[in-house]
Amino acid sequence: MKKIFVIITLFSAYTLYSSWVYSYGTDCNVQMSAEAIRGKATWHAKNCQNCHQVFGLGGYMGPDLTTVITDKQRGAAYTKGILMSGGNRMPNFHLSEAEANELVSYLDYISQTATSQSN
Ligand code: HEC
Repeated sequence: MKKIFVIITLFSAYTLYSSWVYSYGTDCNVQMSAEAIRGKATWHAKNCQNCHQVFGLGGYMGPDLTTVITDKQRGAAYTKGILMSGGNRMPNFHLSEAEANELVSYLDYISQTATSQSN
C-alpha cells in the first residue's frame, strides 16, 4: 500500500512539474533587429554552430558564445575583432565589415536573452 502511495505522489509531482515547464513558454521581450536576422543567416551559412555552442548546443571546438557580448572580459569590440581576423584555430572567414556587425548584432540578441555566470 505504501508503494502505490509513493508511485502516485511521484507521478503527480512529475506531471505537475512537466505541465508547469511546458506551459511556462519561451517568450522573451527582446526583439530581433533586421541586422540580427541577417547575422543569424550568416551564422548558419558559415556553420559557426559546428564549433561553437549557444545555450549549450553546438560544437565543442570553440568557446560557448551565448554571453560573448555581455561578458565583461569579452564584449562586442573583442568579438568583432576575432570575427574580422580569426584566431589560432578560429578560421578567418574574410567577412565584410557589415557581415561582422550583423553577427555581433545576432550574438548581442542571444546575450540579451541569457544570463552569464561570470558577470
Ligand atoms: C572550425 C571551427 C570554428 C568555426 C567554424 C568558427 N569558430 Fe569561432 N572560434 C573557434 C575557436 C577554436 C575559437 C577559440 C580561439 C582560437 O583558438 O582561435 C573561436 C573563437 C571565437 C570567438 C571568441 C570567443 C571567445 O570567448 O574568445 C568568437 C566571438 C567566435 N569564435 C565567433 C565565431 C563565429 C561568429 C563563427 C561563424 C562565422 C565562428 N566563430 C566559426 C573555432 C571556430
